[in-house]
Amino acid sequence: MMIETESALHAPDEPVALDCVSAHDATHVVHAGETKCKPDDALTVPIYQTSTYTFADTDAILAFMARKAERTTAREAGGDLDMRNEYGRYSNPTQRVVEQKLAALEGGEGAVLFASGMAAITTTIFALLSAGDHVIVLRDSYRRTKEFAKSFLPRWGVETTLVSIDDHKGLAGAVRPTTRMIFGETPTNPYLRVMDLEKLAAWAKPLGIITAVDSTFATPVNMHPLFLGIDLVIHSATKYLGGHNDLLAGVVVGPHRLVTQIEATRGLLGGVGGPQDAYLLLRGLKTLSLRVRQQNQNAERVARYLEGHPKVARVFYPGLASHPDAEVAQRQMTGFGGVVSFEIAGNKEQTSRFVDQLRIPYIGPTLGGVESIVQQQALFISLDPEERRAAGMSDSLVRYALGIEDPDDLIADLAQALERI
Ligand SMILES: Cc1ncc(COP(=O)(O)O)c(C=O)c1O
Repeated sequence: MMIETESALHAPDEPVALDCVSAHDATHVVHAGETKCKPDDALTVPIYQTSTYTFADTDAILAFMARKAERTTAREAGGDLDMRNEYGRYSNPTQRVVEQKLAALEGGEGAVLFASGMAAITTTIFALLSAGDHVIVLRDSYRRTKEFAKSFLPRWGVETTLVSIDDHKGLAGAVRPTTRMIFGETPTNPYLRVMDLEKLAAWAKPLGIITAVDSTFATPVNMHPLFLGIDLVIHSATKYLGGHNDLLAGVVVGPHRLVTQIEATRGLLGGVGGPQDAYLLLRGLKTLSLRVRQQNQNAERVARYLEGHPKVARVFYPGLASHPDAEVAQRQMTGFGGVVSFEIAGNKEQTSRFVDQLRIPYIGPTLGGVESIVQQQALFISLDPEERRAAGMSDSLVRYALGIEDPDDLIADLAQALERI
């Protein structure tokens, strides 16, 4: 019976053959990483709710150790080898399917799943940098990424320089002989700035600098950083990839030579998520392309509506010609994402009143799920006006993360809220 179970798990299960480049995202999200024949003929991937994996006998342990040595050699040569599971901090079959699906979606050789986006970011940096190294971080990056780079990394002997997204001279000037990585984010929060990734990759490669990009706001439906020459793409899977505001997760995708180091560091630092969250993520991913296309459409409609409204001072959306990075976005993205930021033509209190009058979106500090979510961004920074000013954010700025609701309803809701301020 043991042998039957083993063969049911491993023998006939050829992964669904999808060509990374030619298969479309909508097919990848459903099938990539999955096998046609699953254990017990189930259609869905089982949740392997286990912390550890057992060995039939001593021979099985010896075979495992021999395979592990082979894999180490393959990894040193820049490749990889599949192998059975040993312990839950190193791997889990449900997680593995998610990793394979995300690697296929981003067009990378491998992926590593984490318990959160921040676990993915910090473990990647710890895996690839050492004391004495220097990292350049985009000034517009997620504030916790910047905090980690500026306040935490120096304790471990890694220096950071922050550079603005359009400061090309500053970027070139920031490079030192010890610069090992450039960490960017595109589109950024909350102004949705878009970095020219092809240009960045072409510039960094000859210098031997690793490029890592947080593509959370774009998703693999709208942008493929690896195809533009970027080395590593990172997501807070908590947002669009999960898509239902019911889990925290993060992922890094890239070539084996980097991903295997990151995976080994995950095993050491322990930032793995649980099997249930991996399953929820897998389930959420199945509708990623449907959801994101709807969110793109909703955001475009809302951005155009707001741009023409007299009570809105300014709209930031990369799909609008008025956005400073509209040209790069057109070239680099196939959709412009589900977030629209805008400034109310009014003060902090009027902006709060507008947000409070909205009936459909929830108020909260996240994005990417099926429910629309809105926030007066500056209020989440600090109660102190000086600190808010230092963060470079107007008190009238609203970030509206579109869900998948009907765009006519969302616009009618915005209209009634704007009328009341
Ligand atoms: C762009 C971006 N990257 C990373 C993160 C961190 O992700 P998590 O909350 O999953 O740790 C966030 C969270 O808001 C984010 O917006």
